[in-house]
Amino acid sequence: MKKTYNIAVLPGDGTGPEVVREGIKVLKAVEARQDFTLNFTEYDFGGDRYLRTGEVLPESAPDEMRKYDAIYLGAIGHPDVKPGILEKGILLKLRFELDQYINLRPVKLYENVPTPLKDKGPKEIDYVVVRENTGGLYTGMGGISMKGTKDEVAVQSMVYNRIQVERCLRWAFEYTRKRARRNTLALCGKTNVLTYVYDLWERAFHEIGKADFAEIRRDYYHVDATCMWMVKNPEWFDVIVTGNMFGDIITDLGAITQGGMGVAAGGNINPNGVSMFEPIGGSAPKYTGQNVINPIAAVGAGQMMLDILGESAGAKMVEDAMKKTLLKMKSMDAGKMGMSTSEVGDDVANEVAKL
Ligand code: IPM
Ligand code: MN
Repeated sequence: MKKTYNIAVLPGDGTGPEVVREGIKVLKAVEARQDFTLNFTEYDFGGDRYLRTGEVLPESAPDEMRKYDAIYLGAIGHPDVKPGILEKGILLKLRFELDQYINLRPVKLYENVPTPLKDKGPKEIDYVVVRENTGGLYTGMGGISMKGTKDEVAVQSMVYNRIQVERCLRWAFEYTRKRARRNTLALCGKTNVLTYVYDLWERAFHEIGKADFAEIRRDYYHVDATCMWMVKNPEWFDVIVTGNMFGDIITDLGAITQGGMGVAAGGNINPNGVSMFEPIGGSAPKYTGQNVINPIAAVGAGQMMLDILGESAGAKMVEDAMKKTLLKMKSMDAGKMGMSTSEVGDDVANEVAKL
């Protein structure tokens, strides 16, 4: 029997809808060549809906999303809405409520994609960051008192429990094993200053690694040094695992080394539930409606979605086709691609049909 996947589509704000449209175009081309069906259902969560209705996210949304096999997201962020409201109320809310505790962010440079790293190419830039996605500084624990006075105090806590740390580390070890590339997992922390939280991470890392993943080599880097080596020697890395905040920061650095926000894709993964896939760049409001934004990151997010759904042959089709299109693009930057947004999508879809 043909498998059917029900996908919730959240195009979101700014250029989100434009890139999601191209991603779906490519996924439909793959569907035509593979033995599965994709049903897309669109939701209008985002800045425009919020400005119209005053509601950031309907209360029923997380439960409704739970009924799907996956979520495909464009971008969240609107120039007329104060920063934080939509990000916290939609993106982070869904990550937390759906317990998407892994944020998988490959840093992979494809042929013909420019990188600012001198003397580095696709051979050197090919690793994956596993970012813990539901804890740390993102829990919102903390507060502010005596606000607006000279005595005011602000606290924001980095919160981790053993279970959160362990489940993330275990997933990262398993992933490193499955990836079977250099069999090396690096923990990125800050044990010299964050002597509580990263001590917990480091102990759990070695305990789990020693007991259950003895064949995986374990490296440790402080986060500041990680940034340095990501620029100087990216070829050292295979899989990096880290907490939520460090993962957020180092994946922007990683993204620029793989061609920028137009290219980098990520998956918010609940290994036992519903996962959400997104281009990791923002909504790029100034390019909205111009058909100039790069949809490759959204295409890559679609590839990850198929892979996590278990459709690895379909995922490979997306990647193989995307690689061919990348060879024809003049740049990865909005307006400079030598193709429009929809032409890039058309081209990847055509390449899929030709595979
Ligand atoms: C990301 C983004 C989000 C994050 C923001 C928009 C809340 O930067 O997905 O990396 O910090 O996680
Ligand atoms: Mn980020």
